[in-house]
Amino acid sequence: MLSKEENELLTRVGPGTMMGDVMRQYWLPFLYSWEIPADGPPLRVRLLGEDLLAFRDSAGAIGLLAERCAHRGAALFFGRNEECGLRCVYHGWKYDTQGRCIDMPNEPAESSFKERILLQAYQARERGGVVFAYLGPKQSDPPALPDLEWTLLPEAQVHHGYKAVLECNWMQSLEGDLDSAHLFILHGRLRADDQGAMGVWHPDRSPRLEIQETGYGLMYGARRDEPDGRVYWRTSQYLFPVHTIFPASPDGTVPCHIWVPIDDEHTLAWDVRWHPTREMPNHQMTHLSPELAGMGPMKPEQKGRFFADWWPEIDQWSDFAIDREIQRTQTYTGIPTIRLQDAAVTTSMGAIFDRSQERLGTTDAMIVRSRQRLLQAARELRESSIPPPGADRPELFRVRSCSAVLPAGVDWRVALDDWHRARTNELMVEQTAEAGR
Ligand code: FES
Ligand SMILES: [Fe+2]
Repeated sequence: MLSKEENELLTRVGPGTMMGDVMRQYWLPFLYSWEIPADGPPLRVRLLGEDLLAFRDSAGAIGLLAERCAHRGAALFFGRNEECGLRCVYHGWKYDTQGRCIDMPNEPAESSFKERILLQAYQARERGGVVFAYLGPKQSDPPALPDLEWTLLPEAQVHHGYKAVLECNWMQSLEGDLDSAHLFILHGRLRADDQGAMGVWHPDRSPRLEIQETGYGLMYGARRDEPDGRVYWRTSQYLFPVHTIFPASPDGTVPCHIWVPIDDEHTLAWDVRWHPTREMPNHQMTHLSPELAGMGPMKPEQKGRFFADWWPEIDQWSDFAIDREIQRTQTYTGIPTIRLQDAAVTTSMGAIFDRSQERLGTTDAMIVRSRQRLLQAARELRESSIPPPGADRPELFRVRSCSAVLPAGVDWRVALDDWHRARTNELMVEQTAEAGR
């Protein structure tokens, strides 16, 4: 439980807020590289409550500019992306990717007015087929990109599942990934001997959590007892401020989510998975995948809205396609995919849940610790200029998760350390039949 004041502090990320300042210490992914071809149309983007436009100029450089023209505020969305710059169609002011005004046809040719115009521009960089934005104070000298393993591997070893706009606060989405206890209920099937495709199943649905502080955030192991006396561990990483790496599959495929705050009430969810050594089947980035996987198909372009191509068709306004017959006979939810099941519950809490109303139990321990760590980071940054976890240590972000069955008494932190820190590519641990699902 949080006080109303702490809840506000935790969830609000707009300019000038304390958590917004924390977010602005990090690079945040917001586009696939292929979304902005050179000289292509600009895209509406909203990040941390700021309305922006992204475009790629003729030379391949990416611009991330304030949405409105510095002259009289017309939307640069209507701008013309022409030879190395974006031209406002109202009076023709033209901006380069750094926000400098490089042409001003409505002023006398001898005027130097344009040299005094600078539109807000933020740094954008690409790695691993994804564009990251840095909205922080060090625009002329930003930190290095985080060494997330999937951004460092050949593209064939990485699968981009989806990107999707969710209609809730980023912290609600993130907390769903720090919550191992929901796995065998929300995503569970009703009967053990039904097919695995129906959902996951494990007899122990009350995991004991062991939490470890790290230089980039937190890590935890969820312990469940196997019927034969061994211990089934599911480990997850929380990398500040928005990455969660949830348990790897038996074959060593590592999945992650990224929960980028669009504003206080919308989150841009990313699903990425990778294998340290092998090619991923279907690794090609799929745009608007027709089959019902992940978040399902996307709505047609949502004209006039930010991230216009990434609004899922199945959402709270269609009750997440719940099938009451399947709920009655096969699964707890009757909702078709794991990601939609997650989205249903986290958005059902309201855009920003009032955490002064909740009643936390033992399996919420990781959520409690993550909030404490975030609030501590926000206060330390504001009061003492202490950088939040990993903000100045990009090399720390090369970590993984695991799911493994270990003999009783073995310390999971030690046994899985080489895998967790990407010092080995061999996942030499036993699995349960259900592990990693
Ligand atoms: S409003 Fe953009 S040039 Fe006038
Ligand atoms: Fe989930």
